[in-house]
Amino acid sequence: MLLHLFFSLSVFLTLIDNGNAGITSSFIRNERPSVDIPLENDVFAVPKGYNAPQQVHITQGDYEGKAVLISWVTPDKPGPSQVRYGLSEGKYEFTVEGSFTNYTFYNYKSGYIHKCFLDGLQYDTKYYYEIGNGDSARNFWFETPPKVDPDASYKFGIIGDLGQTYNSLSTLQHYMNSGAKSVLFVGDLSYADRYKYHDVGVRWDSWGRFVEQSAAYQPWMWSAGNHEIEYMPFMGEVTMFKSYLYRYPTPYKASNSTSPLWYSIRRASAHIIVLSTYSPFVKYTPQWKWLREEWKNIDREKTPWLIVLIHVPIYNSNVAHFMEGESMRSVFEGWFIEHKVDVIFAGHVHAYERSYRVSNIHYNISSGDPYPVLDKAAPVYITVGDGGNQEGLASRFRDPQPDYSAFREASFGHSTLDIKNRTHAFYHWNRNDDGKKVKIDSFVLHNQYWGRNYQRRKFNKNRLHSVILNRASTAQL
Ligand SMILES: *[C@@H]1O[C@H](CO)[C@@H](O)[C@H](O)[C@H]1NC(C)=O
Ligand SMILES: *[C@@H]1O[C@H](CO)[C@@H](O)[C@H](O)[C@H]1NC(C)=O
Ligand SMILES: *[C@@H]1O[C@H](CO)[C@@H](O)[C@H](O)[C@H]1NC(C)=O
Ligand SMILES: *[C@@H]1O[C@H](CO)[C@@H](O)[C@H](O)[C@H]1NC(C)=O
Ligand SMILES: [Fe+2]
Repeated sequence: MLLHLFFSLSVFLTLIDNGNAGITSSFIRNERPSVDIPLENDVFAVPKGYNAPQQVHITQGDYEGKAVLISWVTPDKPGPSQVRYGLSEGKYEFTVEGSFTNYTFYNYKSGYIHKCFLDGLQYDTKYYYEIGNGDSARNFWFETPPKVDPDASYKFGIIGDLGQTYNSLSTLQHYMNSGAKSVLFVGDLSYADRYKYHDVGVRWDSWGRFVEQSAAYQPWMWSAGNHEIEYMPFMGEVTMFKSYLYRYPTPYKASNSTSPLWYSIRRASAHIIVLSTYSPFVKYTPQWKWLREEWKNIDREKTPWLIVLIHVPIYNSNVAHFMEGESMRSVFEGWFIEHKVDVIFAGHVHAYERSYRVSNIHYNISSGDPYPVLDKAAPVYITVGDGGNQEGLASRFRDPQPDYSAFREASFGHSTLDIKNRTHAFYHWNRNDDGKKVKIDSFVLHNQYWGRNYQRRKFNKNRLHSVILNRASTAQL
């Protein structure tokens, strides 16, 4: 107790000394080898039965959460693109017909990629579904979110840069124990582009079978990273995002987007905007114009929580990918502040980092202060590119830790955002292999719209409190 008091006091004094000093966790865990799991491993097992549906995954299908888009692959022949579903297991009172497509990538020929749209679902309901026929039929279930409502509670998981290594498997398994209801995926899915020729397609297929254990049962909201670009002229493949776009449909039309690479959805009490780092975003481009209109659709009285997903982080202090987010910052940061985005999740950097609420909008090319400043209207920026892919950890952080960086650690893991009501959400970063109870970095996120007055009163106290907690939990390790 005395020790604890002394510890808190010394942290407090340190804080007074250097303002917003962030924390660089010194924790180091031995990595598993950064190699992909061999194809013959059970995590990639092909389901039994002739032409059995595999790589089953779902995503939100509409703007408000009453539809689901189900996608899967049949390897041998098209077969039916049909989903049978209902409210109890084995009793499927509804049938929907979907469609299928296929593509080639160099000399790889994809299986038949099916897509089926389930519409008019009830909120907050468990549905059971079946795809495939006879001996090859497979059964799954999913739960719809609560009705869009300012106080609807909902727990999201956030995963990025997952890949298909033993570290990826650890992340996936830990995520599946978190109790979160859907995944906000911040780009770089399979890392299949690390392979050549035929194997690119093969590793997309194995990744689809790998994530099925979660993605067939709860929606994953997709966004694209650089590993989805697959610009490979040496193989004659120059169509950007080809495999990704064939395999991972998004509900972009529902938010009046003209590209599956950027879109928005509402889910429970959250409005989620997905942006594409690797699509044009400067002024007058389609993405920029769409986002300009999209701000008008946000109603914080209905969806208090405003979340943005991008691949490349804007406030990153890792040596890896340092300043790669500058171009997007200079275009979009003003909007993020103006519209009081609550939190921005990014991936790309294979480590974990969280920023303070900072902005750098006063700087322009001829004048102004070039340094980010604390800004209560700014989002918290969180990098979770720590899914565990074969490229390994980004373990070198810039030294000293910049003022904008609140906490950083080079370990694999995932995050959860547990929204309680319109004012409070519990955020938690979960390092792999610690079990679900170890909170390495966690804090209460106060809503930027509803929590503003509340926050003004508590801002300083809370930040200090959170910093002390972080120091304490880091120091205990
Ligand atoms: C798609 O499947 C059809 C029917 O099996 C086949 O004839 C066609 O060549 C395939 N197309 C591509 C692009 O692989
Ligand atoms: C999309 O555009 C249509 C037609 O202009 C409009 O009725 C609808 O509200 C828009 N939806 C969104 C989510 O912006
Ligand atoms: C550039 O910054 C200066 C000083 O903050 C400001 O007066 C000026 O309006 C800014 N110009 C633009 C185009 O933003
Ligand atoms: C919102 O949730 C927080 C955390 O559970 C709780 O302390 C607060 O009282 C809730 N607010 C309302 C209005 O229910
Ligand atoms: Fe990336």
